[in-house]
Amino acid sequence: MKKIIITGGAGFIGSHVVRRFVTTYPGYQIVNLDKLTYAGNLENLRDIEHNSNYKFVKGDIVDAAFIDELFKNEKPDAVIHLAAESHVDRSITNPLEFVMTNVIGTVNLLNAAKKYWAGNYENTRFYHVSTDEVYGTLGETGMFTEETAYDPHSPYSASKASSDHFVRAYQDTYGLNAVISNCSNNYGSYHFPEKLIPLSIHNIKQSKPIPVYGKGENVRDWLWVEDHARAIDVIFHKAKSGTTYNIGGHNEWKNIDLIRLLCSILDKKLGRPEGESAKLITFVTDRAGHDLRYAIDATKLKEELGWTPSITFEQGLEKTVDWYLANQEWLDHVTSGQYQQYYEGQYTNR
Ligand code: NAD
Ligand code: DAU
Repeated sequence: MKKIIITGGAGFIGSHVVRRFVTTYPGYQIVNLDKLTYAGNLENLRDIEHNSNYKFVKGDIVDAAFIDELFKNEKPDAVIHLAAESHVDRSITNPLEFVMTNVIGTVNLLNAAKKYWAGNYENTRFYHVSTDEVYGTLGETGMFTEETAYDPHSPYSASKASSDHFVRAYQDTYGLNAVISNCSNNYGSYHFPEKLIPLSIHNIKQSKPIPVYGKGENVRDWLWVEDHARAIDVIFHKAKSGTTYNIGGHNEWKNIDLIRLLCSILDKKLGRPEGESAKLITFVTDRAGHDLRYAIDATKLKEELGWTPSITFEQGLEKTVDWYLANQEWLDHVTSGQYQQYYEGQYTNR
């Protein structure tokens, strides 16, 4: 019986990782540790919340005493760490919150793991889920490999780069069994509608302006979130301690082209005349320090561990749009703030 603490399991990617581990490995005990910030939504896990191998614990990774106590009580064999402040725009407004959660929170978890496992790392694992944004920005050509030097530009990416360095330092200095993966932009179900794809879908549905930063020339490399969760599963089980893997979809899109594609898909699905939704596109002031282009070279992951994406972007986007059309209630609860009451309703008696 393996016990795994998954941090940030009520968020977008974390909820897919929790679902995958709870349903694929009934012999594992999964503890979802989440503070339930604005980005944490337990409605994301409604379908598995009563599974006997799943447990939710509300808590803050910045609170070192709480984390210490959690390790003592739960006695985990492994940690998969996703909890973070994740939105670049919010990091520009409030960098310190990103330092607290992404840097201090990660170091608190590392300290608890080091203390609790006390040098007996053989059957343990500390998995840190990170981002391609630590590598900075690319020009028109080239790709990020695992050897690309770190060059973060936003407070968000600087905080994630810092946490990556701490994880490596704990592996080098104390021998902690640690792995890191750096993934490109995810998309899919349960994505909070502050991020480009769900925000655009939501605004198109509502016939509201779609804000495009600058000229929409920035390029992102999009990966279906369930393929990211599967990559995490593979790396968690197969990677050697001290290794890093890049994860990406080999799927680059200029923002403006992606938004036009979403408009066209939704015109068809909503029965609007072709070109109707594209009229909502509105160019707005660019993001400060906006990275031009991200592109991941995921050859190492493919060659060493055999992972490749399972579906095409066309298939993934279709599934995603269909999910947002079929789950208006989820979207309504998120946009009205009602999702934040779900915790009280579900968990008061536990
Ligand atoms: P998200 O914002 O949707 O979810 C973050 C979760 O962490 C939320 O449930 C939130 O409540 C929780 N959390 C935040 N602060 C906390 C704290 N102090 N203590 C405990 N829990 C806290 O984020 P996401 O998009 O799902 O990203 C998850 C991880 O993956 C992050 O580490 C992010 O850097 C990384 N990542 C994201 C992407 C992407 O495209 N979204 C790509 C690569 C890597
Ligand atoms: O690359 C991985 C990263 O991808 C993750 O580490 C981050 O957690 C995740 O949020 C994401 O960061 P981005 O900044 O790339 O994602 P976002 O959806 O905020 O923006 C995608 C692109 O779209 C970016 O070039 C900015 C632009 N954009 C975004 C929003 C929200 C717009 O043009 N308009 C918008 O309203």
